[in-house]
Amino acid sequence: MTTTTPRPVELDDVQGLLRFGYSHHTEACFLLLRVKDPAAARAWLAQAPVTTAVEAKPVPATAMQVAISGPGLAALGIPDDLAAGFSEEFLAGMAGDEDRSRRLGDLDSSHPSNWAWGAGDAVPHVLLLLYALPGHLADWRRSLEAELASGFTLQAELDTADLAGREPFGFRDGLSQPEVDWERRRPVEDRDRLEYGNLTCLGEFLLGYPNEYGLYTDRPLLDPGRDPGVLLPRAEDRPELADLGRNGSYLVLRELRQDVAGLWRWLAQQAGGDLDRARDWAEAMVGRKLDGRSRIPGARGLNGFDYAADPEGLHCPFGAHIRRANPRNADYPAGTRGILARVRRFLGFDAGALPQDLVASTRFHRILRRGRAFGTPPVPEQALAEPPPTAGTGLHFICLGANIGRQFEFVQSAWIQGTRFAGLPGEGDPLLGHRLPGPDGAPSDCFSIPRADGPDQRLCGLPHFVEVRGGGYFFLPGIRALRYMTRPR
Ligand code: HEM
Repeated sequence: MTTTTPRPVELDDVQGLLRFGYSHHTEACFLLLRVKDPAAARAWLAQAPVTTAVEAKPVPATAMQVAISGPGLAALGIPDDLAAGFSEEFLAGMAGDEDRSRRLGDLDSSHPSNWAWGAGDAVPHVLLLLYALPGHLADWRRSLEAELASGFTLQAELDTADLAGREPFGFRDGLSQPEVDWERRRPVEDRDRLEYGNLTCLGEFLLGYPNEYGLYTDRPLLDPGRDPGVLLPRAEDRPELADLGRNGSYLVLRELRQDVAGLWRWLAQQAGGDLDRARDWAEAMVGRKLDGRSRIPGARGLNGFDYAADPEGLHCPFGAHIRRANPRNADYPAGTRGILARVRRFLGFDAGALPQDLVASTRFHRILRRGRAFGTPPVPEQALAEPPPTAGTGLHFICLGANIGRQFEFVQSAWIQGTRFAGLPGEGDPLLGHRLPGPDGAPSDCFSIPRADGPDQRLCGLPHFVEVRGGGYFFLPGIRALRYMTRPR
C-alpha cells in the first residue's frame, strides 16, 4: 500500500478563529451588517485586514474575522448556482422553517418571531468579529464603523464582557475542546475507531479536507473557467476543480440570555436554603465543579477523563450539560462492556438499549466553541441576596464546524433538547432545556441525579433558564475565497 503525505494546511488562508480562541483579546464585539451598496461592500471586504491562523509573536493588538450568511451571499452578488453548492442548513438559515426551530428547541419565548435579530428580514448579511487586547477595541471599532458606512448598514452590535474565563452562571467555561489535527497526523483508515479520543480530523472543522468518515464534505467546487485568475485553491479530492470551500468553515452564532438569579434562587429554594446542596446540584447540572474541575474520580487535569469510570452516572449524571453535549466514550451505551456484548449490540440483538443509541459515535458530533459572555451577571451569592438585575446577561454562543447538520444541529437537537437522551425519562438539558412537553406529551422539565444508595434524586419543575434572543448560520471563508467572492467585476 502506498501512503502519500497529505498537503500541509495553508494556515495563511485560514481565519485565525479556527485555531485560536483569542483569549488574550479580552475585548470583543460582533457587528451584524446588512449590505447597502454591493459594490462598496465588496470593495471593503476585498481589502479587510482579516487575521489568519498563522501564529504571530507578539500577538497582534487587534484581530478581525469575517463571516457571510446565505442571504449575504446574494446581497453581495454571488451567483445563485455558486451559492447552491453550500450546505442546505446554511442556505436555509437557523430560523428558516418551523421544523428546524422545533428541532433546535426554539419555541415559546425563544421562537424566532421573538428574536431581536436573525429571523425574516432581520438576518444579517455579514458578521464582523472584532477582538482586541485590553484598551484597543473602542477607537478601532469607531474607525471601522466609519469605513463600513458606505457599503453597509449596522444592524446591531453585540457587545461582550470579560468574565475572566467564567460564563454568567458562574462556571469556568471554554475548557473542553476537540484537538484539531492541524498536522494531519490521523490516518484516514482510522475511521472505524471506537475508543474516545480528542484528536479530530481537520475535515470536521475545515472544508476541503477529509473528515472523520474519511470523506470530503460537499462544498462549492467550480469549473476553473470561473476562476481564470487562479485566485482559489484547487480541490484536494478533485484537482481539476477550484475549491471555494477550502480552508473555510461554518459558524453558528446564538445570542443566549441567561437568567442567573433565576437559576440560583430556584436551586436554593429546592434545597430548603441549604446553599451547599444548591451548589452541588448546580454542579451536577453542568457536570463540572464551579471552578472547572471534573466530577469524575481520577480525572487527569481538567480534561483527562471519559465516562467509562462512571457507568452509573453517580459522579456526572447522564443528563448533565457536558455529558449530553459530548458523551465522550459513549460509542456503546453504559453497560456494553466486553467483546460479546459489543457484537450482540452491533448485530442489533439488544433492542432494549435502543433509546441509548442517541449517544452513538460522539466523534462525528464535535464542535469548536468560541463563544463570549455578555452583560454583568451577579455572582451566585448576589443572585440570592439582591433583587435580580435588569440588564441582560448571557452568552454569545459561537461554534465552528464543517457540517452544521451533523455537528451543531445534532448536538443541540438530539443531545441537548432530546427528551429521551440516554434513556432518561422526561428530561432536557438542565441548563438549556425549553421545559415544554414533547410531541407525545412527555414532560421535559426534570433532572435526575443518580445515587449509589437509593433511587435517583429527581428535581422536577425546572424553570426555563436560557432564552434565545437571536441567531444565525454563517460561512467563515478562507482568505482566498473571500478575495474571490469580493473581487471587482
Ligand atoms: C447559555 C448557554 C450555555 C452555558 C451556560 C454553557 C455552559 C457550559 C459549561 C460551564 C461547560 C463546561 C466547561 C467546558 O468544558 O468548557 C460547557 C461545556 C460544553 N458545552 Fe455548553 N453552555 C451553553 C450552551 C451550549 C450550547 C448551545 C452547546 C451546543 C449546542 C454547548 C455545548 C457544549 C460542549 C460541546 C461542551 C464541552 C463538553 C465536553 O467536551 O466535555 N453549550 N458548557
